[in-house]
Amino acid sequence: MKFEVEHAVDWITKVNEKIQEQKDYLSSLDRAIGDGDHGINMARGFQEVANVLPNEEFGEVSDVLKKTATTVMSKVGGASGPLYGTVFLKMATAAKGAEVDDATFVKMVEAAVDGVKQRGKAEEGEKTMIDVWSPLLSSLKEESEVNSEKIREVAHSSMESTKDMVATKGRAAYLKERSKGHLDPGAVSSYYVFEALAETMEKG
Ligand SMILES: Nc1ncnc2c1ncn2[C@@H]1O[C@H](COP(=O)(O)OP(=O)(O)OP(=O)(O)O)[C@@H](O)[C@H]1O
Ligand SMILES: [Mg+2]
Repeated sequence: MKFEVEHAVDWITKVNEKIQEQKDYLSSLDRAIGDGDHGINMARGFQEVANVLPNEEFGEVSDVLKKTATTVMSKVGGASGPLYGTVFLKMATAAKGAEVDDATFVKMVEAAVDGVKQRGKAEEGEKTMIDVWSPLLSSLKEESEVNSEKIREVAHSSMESTKDMVATKGRAAYLKERSKGHLDPGAVSSYYVFEALAETMEKG
């Protein structure tokens, strides 16, 4: 993959567009198994990111992701602010000083997954955003190259897989068995992150 500063800015800008479009949907998912604020939280944070990115000069991809992380951390409330902040900060650190090629990108996602697992004290199968990020990482490691179609496919099926899971982390865990039958809001917003990435890659 060819991933430079302009691609990183394009990616995050697209993430924001999707979050804004799906704000009500994300909150409705969170109303079913949480407190109904995931869309509002994400929309507030990523709108701020989209506002600040065009006013900055970035030397490398890492800088774009770091700015995204710090802005998200300061603007997104709830559990997802620190978690998404961690995701982008870990990716920034892993990309620092490197050309973002396929190998670097896999390292970035690996760092993000490790970071979010640590921060959320969660593992795969607990019905969280990790259930999109972690299978995506496994798929990237299996493939010989980073492929946008594959990213979209794996992110989508992983998001869908959270529907049948019983939540054991976050607010949804209070519902126990009743959390079953609903998609996890953070898994759905994570799907948008990867859908936006696939679109950025396809634009070239
Ligand atoms: N411990 C955790 N580890 C990883 N992801 C988590 C964890 N707790 C919550 N999440 C993710 O955060 C999403 C909820 O984000 P939201 O913006 O609604 O924050 P919140 O209302 O404070 O969260 P929650 O109600 O889950 O504590 C969940 O759908 C899930 O994907
Ligand atoms: Mg919530």
